[in-house]
Amino acid sequence: MPLLFIQDLEVDFRLNGRWVRAVDGVSLAVEAGETVCIVGESGCGKSVTALSVARLLPEPPARIAGGRIDIEGRNVFELSSRDLRAVRGGVVSYVFQEPGAALNPVFRVGVQILETLRIHRPQRATQTEVVRLLAEVGLADPERRARNYPHELSGGMQQRVMIAMAIATEPKLLIADEPTTALDVTIQAQILDLLKDLKHRLGMAILLITHNLGLVGDIADRIVVMYAGQVIESGPAAELLRSPVHPYTRALIQSVPELGQTRDRLRAIPGTVPQPGAWPIGCRFAPRCPFVQPQCHLQAPPLTHSGTDPAHQVRCPVATA
Ligand SMILES: Nc1ncnc2c1ncn2[C@@H]1O[C@H](COP(=O)(O)OP(=O)(O)OP(=O)(O)O)[C@@H](O)[C@H]1O
Ligand SMILES: [Mg+2]
Repeated sequence: MPLLFIQDLEVDFRLNGRWVRAVDGVSLAVEAGETVCIVGESGCGKSVTALSVARLLPEPPARIAGGRIDIEGRNVFELSSRDLRAVRGGVVSYVFQEPGAALNPVFRVGVQILETLRIHRPQRATQTEVVRLLAEVGLADPERRARNYPHELSGGMQQRVMIAMAIATEPKLLIADEPTTALDVTIQAQILDLLKDLKHRLGMAILLITHNLGLVGDIADRIVVMYAGQVIESGPAAELLRSPVHPYTRALIQSVPELGQTRDRLRAIPGTVPQPGAWPIGCRFAPRCPFVQPQCHLQAPPLTHSGTDPAHQVRCPVATA
């Protein structure tokens, strides 16, 4: 039984008086101790999928329209609010992109970590544990850091404090939603190194969301590529990075900025992701696809196995033919 099992998840938003689908039949699993990365351009439904796991989307405007999400074998859509709170604090923790979303500017960071401990692990709510957690996330001089206010710390240090708060509850699953996008490239790599290190030391699973396929090779066991609310390719990380099949995955890999590369030489994918409510009938990537065939505009392709590895799945009959 996987730690996290998402099956045919459908999430809608209420927009201008009608329900519009934003996540459309997403399935994925995260085994205990495993790192799964969700990648895709802005607006593909990565965050909506991640927030659904602990039922963090505001309902309304959101509604879960279908599917199930099991954590340790229990469907979170059927949990009481008390059991949901236990899942949020005990099994699943989140790290978000914006330090402002998790850190309160008016309290010292040590006080905020202590408060998290008080709520979720009261027997460990001590200053010693706060300092230990700050050291665990690689902050030098943790006693001093505990007395700092968030604005006294750099972006990278704030991100480490947020990770300390997230691991304070000893989660089995850490969901990190673009934890590095706001940071410069060197610091991004350091934060991913920290996550990788924590995963090994604490044995937790990670669901990591990012735009940047260039960063995931080192940390991911499996990769899930999303486009316009769907999974369009997924598989073991090494295989998917070595032999990407879907034209979108291939384009994403080609658009990874190389070190030292200037912005204007970056090969971005022409066109934009279609918005919810405006998805094409056939393949949703067809309008941007360099390999598009006439039938791509007519029929929505299913996810099928690709190559020899049954775990490698692709939603493109042209590329898998
Ligand atoms: N609260 C909301 N109300 C209405 N629509 C929303 C809301 N949150 C998300 N959406 C829509 O759902 C779609 C998926 O959004 P989501 O935030 O999951 O994208 P994402 O893949 O995480 O993108 P990014 O990389 O920019 O974070 C978007 O088109 C967005 O407009
Ligand atoms: Mg997002």
